[in-house]
Amino acid sequence: ISFLLYDFLPLKQRERIILFLEVHMKLFLDSANIEEIKRANEFGIICGVTTNPSIIAKEGKDFKEMIQQMTQIIDGPISGEVKPTTEEAKDMIREGRSIASLHPNMVVKLPTTPEGLKACHVLSKEGIKTNLTLVFSVPQALLAARAGATYVSPFIGRIDDISMDGLQLIKDIAQIFKIYNLSTQIICASIRNAYHIIGCAKTGADIATVPYSIIEQMVKHPLTDKGLEKFKNDYIAVFGE
Ligand code: G3P
Repeated sequence: ISFLLYDFLPLKQRERIILFLEVHMKLFLDSANIEEIKRANEFGIICGVTTNPSIIAKEGKDFKEMIQQMTQIIDGPISGEVKPTTEEAKDMIREGRSIASLHPNMVVKLPTTPEGLKACHVLSKEGIKTNLTLVFSVPQALLAARAGATYVSPFIGRIDDISMDGLQLIKDIAQIFKIYNLSTQIICASIRNAYHIIGCAKTGADIATVPYSIIEQMVKHPLTDKGLEKFKNDYIAVFGE
């Protein structure tokens, strides 16, 4: 909708458009397990994948091979992180270019450190998509956005772990990005429960990256199981199998 037209719309309709834009939060899968990626993709609810060095190490397989398999399953952004042993920007840039060359959907994940910001700045100028990770504060998110990051990944669960409010960080980043119309998208990471997802969606965050176990948690409800059981019994009592 053009902004010109938007200005002439009645208030009610404007509210509906804003609501639609705000509730449209995408889900990515936070995993490098090919079976989990296949299963989550079959649900039709994920449109991207994020990985990190721990997730990759858990699978213990060749990085490039795993990424290539992922690109065959998911038609959306796939974040592959530079090695945690790569410390200097020049090496992150070289590695980032190589990750980006694996597939057009690749996003280069970089740590939010001074060297990571330098690498982000160079790679972004080359048109390579970047995801600045291990974000634990608003200033870090702002710096990443200014350096040209396509995505920032604030870690909710790990903030909760130190008795602080992870969701509050998402709220603050979302509010500030909105005020200044920054195009960097927020990927809510380190999600530990379904409640986190509700919280993220309420803040207007762009994406939540979710472990497979949380997707299972999200779909489960005891009343759904109980209700289905009753439907089955009532049906069978009258119609048989
Ligand atoms: O991918 C980064 C993030 O989601 C890690 O989560 O549970 O290890 O804090 P967690």
